[in-house]
Amino acid sequence: MATYERASQDMGNVVSLDHLNLTITDQQTATLFYVVGLGFTRDPYLTVGLENMWLNLGRQQLHLPTRPEAQTVRGRIGLVVPDLEELDARLGSVEPGLAGTSFAHSRGKDSIDVTGPWGNRFRCAAPGGAFGGTLMGMPYVEFDVAPGTAAGIARFYETVLGASVSVAPPEARGDGVGGACSVQVGRGQSLRFRETEEKLPAYDGHHLAVYLADFSSPHAALGGRGLVTEESNEHQYRFVDIVDPESGEVLHQLEHEVRSMYHPMFGRPLVNRDPSLTQRNYRRGADALAIG
Ligand SMILES: [Fe+2]
Repeated sequence: MATYERASQDMGNVVSLDHLNLTITDQQTATLFYVVGLGFTRDPYLTVGLENMWLNLGRQQLHLPTRPEAQTVRGRIGLVVPDLEELDARLGSVEPGLAGTSFAHSRGKDSIDVTGPWGNRFRCAAPGGAFGGTLMGMPYVEFDVAPGTAAGIARFYETVLGASVSVAPPEARGDGVGGACSVQVGRGQSLRFRETEEKLPAYDGHHLAVYLADFSSPHAALGGRGLVTEESNEHQYRFVDIVDPESGEVLHQLEHEVRSMYHPMFGRPLVNRDPSLTQRNYRRGADALAIG
């Protein structure tokens, strides 16, 4: 009989990174950057007003409530887009409209680094490789963390959330800066934590949402440590502090919206347009992006 690497098909307890929630200060700027520039699609069904906009990027979303202050991830958001050449052209086209903001973009060998109008940093890659074969999505979010915390953060996700984790020692980083760890949060998705010597800005309250298969055991483990910050409803709770499970020391802060797979929005179909389609090159029947 044929042999296969069966462990490569294992999934930890976190089955999906669903969305990242970042406040913005105005929807016109956000539309120019996220919809016209990056090529995402505004959710046509939910939060269609001026107080919040949801953006679809493949099977993930960005939630962008309008507030007086914009939020910024302390790290970098990984994106997959269908075509880097087309992305480069779209980013060039929104430059005049985003003048005076933090917007910037630079082309690398296999990626495009983009800074959003409010300072969020994105690394955009083409489909393929480790990202699960999707044409568009958010395969990872990478967080800068304090020196000496990566191994404890990995222990937290492994023992409290039941996630599948890997830890890279400092020498594996190649930049001599510090340790790192990676937490699997779905098919081709991860949260990455990289130690840095640089001073971290204060946590500004942005959040992310994940779905868990075993929903109750992490709740009990977090509750036993007094870490549950919100009992949202039967399908959802929240926590903020990531602690060393051995010492209880708070290693990093990041609000997690934790959802069960019975949450009504689990597996919700998301509308994604093909951002390469214009009036001029319109092809009948090609409006939607087959995200893979
Ligand atoms: Fe949320």
